[in-house]
Amino acid sequence: MAVIGIMSAMHEELAAVLAAMPDKHLVRVAGRDFGLGHWHGHEVVVVLSRIGKVAAATTATALIERFKVDALVFTGAAGGLAADAQVGDVVVASALVQHDMDASPLFPKHEVPLYGRSRFDTDAALSKALAAAASQVLSDPAQHLGAQAIADFHLLSPRVHQGLIASGDRFVSTTAESQALQLSLPEALAVEMEGAAVAQVCLDYGVPFAAVRTISDRADDEAHSDFGRFIRDVASRYSLAILSQWLMQ
Ligand code: ADE
Repeated sequence: MAVIGIMSAMHEELAAVLAAMPDKHLVRVAGRDFGLGHWHGHEVVVVLSRIGKVAAATTATALIERFKVDALVFTGAAGGLAADAQVGDVVVASALVQHDMDASPLFPKHEVPLYGRSRFDTDAALSKALAAAASQVLSDPAQHLGAQAIADFHLLSPRVHQGLIASGDRFVSTTAESQALQLSLPEALAVEMEGAAVAQVCLDYGVPFAAVRTISDRADDEAHSDFGRFIRDVASRYSLAILSQWLMQ
């Protein structure tokens, strides 16, 4: 049976998935607690990624080397960059790029040295299945979220996007930085802090990878306000519902 690795950037999300696994047990490796067991009949290993590219790459490597996962899915939140990537929307990555990688003039900006590429594609079939699950979940937000969260965050008609996600070791929280990112990577829909590193590790090992992120903020001057509440009341619930829907398909 295929083993699915699930990396989550949020404690709340991880706790909810662990609670849904009837037979879970924890194994501690590299200071991380890996939750092993079954969810909807699939063998899964669930772990908190920690924050930033290096922590996420270490976690992904342990999932692959130690727990032999056959596929890896990352879920969490991201800041919206594209004008239509609004708070409450979900982005399923088709590719990821490290926006803070710059070894120019030795290599083109964003290119990862010796990989000959700046973009790391996700697995098409896995991403398609997750996007279908996300569309299903977002078609009826009220089934997954409280009325107060829907009203407070204006989540009336959330959308699913598929495209480029940019990752880097910065929480983007100024309009100026967001605009600079949009200029240097015009196709990027959203920004976060781990995905492209995990995509690189998965390419190294030949492991199919997908990433699903709920837009929690617009990566601008207001990016920090209500972040914690959004993660708890919206992003974690969406992630849980999307993963659940995908595994039940
Ligand atoms: N994750 C969620 N919002 C983010 C932002 N604005 N920058 C980086 N990572 C994020």
